[in-house]
Amino acid sequence: MSEVKVHIGGPLVDLSGTTRADCAVIALNHVTREYAGHGGVVRALADASFSIVAGEWVAITGPSGSGKSTLVNLIGCLDRPTAGELKIDNINVASMSATELDRFRADKIGFIFQQFHLIPYLSAVENVMLAQYFHSMTDEAEARAALERVGLGDRVSHLPSELSGGEQQRVCIARALINNPPILLADEPTGNLDAANQAIVAELLQDLHRNGHTIVMVTHDPEMAGLAQRKIALSHGKVFCHPVGGPMVTLRR
Ligand SMILES: Nc1ncnc2c1ncn2[C@@H]1O[C@H](COP(=O)(O)OP(=O)(O)OP(=O)(O)O)[C@@H](O)[C@H]1O
Ligand SMILES: [Mg+2]
Repeated sequence: MSEVKVHIGGPLVDLSGTTRADCAVIALNHVTREYAGHGGVVRALADASFSIVAGEWVAITGPSGSGKSTLVNLIGCLDRPTAGELKIDNINVASMSATELDRFRADKIGFIFQQFHLIPYLSAVENVMLAQYFHSMTDEAEARAALERVGLGDRVSHLPSELSGGEQQRVCIARALINNPPILLADEPTGNLDAANQAIVAELLQDLHRNGHTIVMVTHDPEMAGLAQRKIALSHGKVFCHPVGGPMVTLRR
């Protein structure tokens, strides 16, 4: 059993420069992401430096346009920084080729999106099997078991259009988990759900956290953010982190 010390609670403070890179599974060092658009350059993320340790559950909060999805896309290796260094599992993602990065992403990261991004003409189980296909090889029994774990054992043959929003989000969670990635990235996982389905997804995330997954979750919902151990708040692309001065807790894994 390993032990990881984490701060929780405490006031909002700018943590630029204070990272815990020694035990980080995600480490950003002066990461900036700019977009060159028609209206000029937008600095969506500005000089972000912080770390997330293995097994931690972090909520990313901030107003619309503050850079949350930009940050999650960078951590998920769907995008690359304009400047600065991003390490996942101690590997500088800039050092990898596109093919290596695809492999790395499939091994390390599961994605849960607000808009689900399910393939409309594939059934629930086929959507999950597609993630297996991109990782290694398909295994229908395993994909069915993943859907059973999220309470959808009786919906495996349904198309996304035949599922409720909450059920579609649970298919996404099964798809994100099927290759057992250590890191889960969730961008507004409950943004399109009613209270009952939000509670189901919250419970699933709590289970995953208990099982040792590192969770980085964007949310506008204070209740969801309250489930996380730590908040990283964004404002106009600048990062403000909990905690400094918060109590130390020990996570046993
Ligand atoms: N591809 C792009 N090209 C140009 N500007 C972009 C691009 N993507 C995002 N931006 C800009 O970067 C800023 C941050 O966008 P981002 O999507 O990260 O915000 P967000 O915090 O996720 O917002 P929301 O809560 O609405 O999802 C915004 O001002 C947005 O207009
Ligand atoms: Mg967003």
